Amino acid sequence: MKLTEAKEWWKESVVYQIYPRSFQDSNGDGIGDIRGIIERLPYLADLGINVVWLCPVYKSPMDDGGYDISDYYQIDPMFGTMDDMDELIEKAGELGIKILMDLVVNHTSDEHEWFQKALANPKSKYRDYYIFREGINGNPPNNWRSYFGGSAWEPVPSESNMFYLHAFSKKQPDLNWENIAVRNECIQMINWWLEKGLGGFRIDAILNLKKRIEYGVFPANGEDGLVFIGHWILNQPGIEEWLNEIDELTFKKHNAFTVAEADVPEERLSEYIGENGHFRMVFDFSYTDIDTPETGEWFKQSKWTVKELKDKIMINELITQRNGWGAKYLENHDQPRSINKYLPQEYQDDRSKKMLAVLFMMLHGTPFIYQGQEIGMSNIRMDSITDYNDIATHDQYRRALLSGMSPDEALEWMYRRSRDNSRTPMQWTNQKNAGFSNADEIWLKTNPNYHEINVEQEQMDETSVLNFYKKLIYLRSDFSKYKEVTIYGELVPVESSDTVIAYKRIIDDKELLIVVNFSDAEDQLFTEGCYEQIIANVELPKIVENKFILPAYTGAVFSKILEVE
Ligand code: NOJ
Repeated sequence: MKLTEAKEWWKESVVYQIYPRSFQDSNGDGIGDIRGIIERLPYLADLGINVVWLCPVYKSPMDDGGYDISDYYQIDPMFGTMDDMDELIEKAGELGIKILMDLVVNHTSDEHEWFQKALANPKSKYRDYYIFREGINGNPPNNWRSYFGGSAWEPVPSESNMFYLHAFSKKQPDLNWENIAVRNECIQMINWWLEKGLGGFRIDAILNLKKRIEYGVFPANGEDGLVFIGHWILNQPGIEEWLNEIDELTFKKHNAFTVAEADVPEERLSEYIGENGHFRMVFDFSYTDIDTPETGEWFKQSKWTVKELKDKIMINELITQRNGWGAKYLENHDQPRSINKYLPQEYQDDRSKKMLAVLFMMLHGTPFIYQGQEIGMSNIRMDSITDYNDIATHDQYRRALLSGMSPDEALEWMYRRSRDNSRTPMQWTNQKNAGFSNADEIWLKTNPNYHEINVEQEQMDETSVLNFYKKLIYLRSDFSKYKEVTIYGELVPVESSDTVIAYKRIIDDKELLIVVNFSDAEDQLFTEGCYEQIIANVELPKIVENKFILPAYTGAVFSKILEVE
């Protein structure tokens, strides 16, 4: 296989996602901030990553962790100032790290000036920046459920029979992208940030931009009498024109990194990530949401098998590499910790954490590591629902109770699936608040396991999860002889038992073999050719006659040895 893939800086990156509120507090108020991130830049450079994606730091009332923006041109004081942001971009740049921000343009905060003006004066031009509709005799236009529960329509205060649409919380009114003025405002804002030297954006909820609004009461799919909204607002025909427009007028001009939060159906993937696609890459949800139904109800978790996981990963890999470039992740700020999701409790240890690292870091595409994943952070057990901050967690808890669960049962589901599992403070040391903050009160509880799981300790331990991640990142670096094959090598699945996930990465005369035994029993793999081990999470028996013996939860990478004639 020849290298046919065009080389691009965003393909050669390893991204590190930061949840700023929980990364590092520099001023002792119990909340992470931009200066805290600046302080930790040497850690990130040492890890070997070269792109940082920051979850929103714009001005926000924080109803949804900053995904409710009240001013696109300001940094929220809780995170610092615009000067801090400029300094972060500059100092990171000096270390070879580019910064991505979150781009949230499906909705604003209800505290955004546009929405305030739209409410204050129905005749103002801002009215058409949002989606207002008359109700039916005082009831909402339809029975859509917002993603965060409850009706997606909120009555407009002091106007009778008038509602506005919010696909997420009622403090996140949806923007009306049909209005060219809205599109122009967004384009202008995106260019403003890119001109500051930003590397690009992670683009939020982008498939929701276009809505097909229908009046009526549709068959409910929940105890609340409401219906999942996705059918009317996800990937509606016509959205492509807007996405193209944004790309042409902003991202392309700056050769920006764009990764969209977009679960795109296979038949449309080439429009999204192909050579002339709207984005450089999109996130796939199929295997990170394997444990939840399509409607996203955490307390109705789906059962899954390793075979299904493997099939989902491989299908996604093959489709993605046929159409363009992929974004690979196991964790983010909306997901629980991967070790809790994918492994039974008794096997949640360093070995299986490293196995997951091998599995995902060696896939075809740009890897995204979420803060704390590289040290193996895990879910947190909260004592009460009041310990949770996340708006979606409170909604899911309410709905779990409504479905007949006891508070204890509902809390157990939150332990498994709450978004706060990944939002707890970064565990730097075994000191107060895990070294995250010196405040007496911090915004979200620290996971008590920081005494055992923390950066400081793992830095000193050659065999730690952290050092294992560093080795995997290094394989993609300029100093590695495996760089080309790790980044650009074609992925070819290898036949194996149901609980072994094996694939090759091939380019020119280079070939890697990646083997993951996703079970608690020893297994085997047969393959032609002669291989040498590059990295493994366990001591592996010698390969005899093309037979690999794989202890439980093995994750290993081999390189093919060329036969000399
Ligand atoms: C997706 C983001 O990742 C999530 O955190 C947020 O709640 C919604 N979009 C709404 O912006």
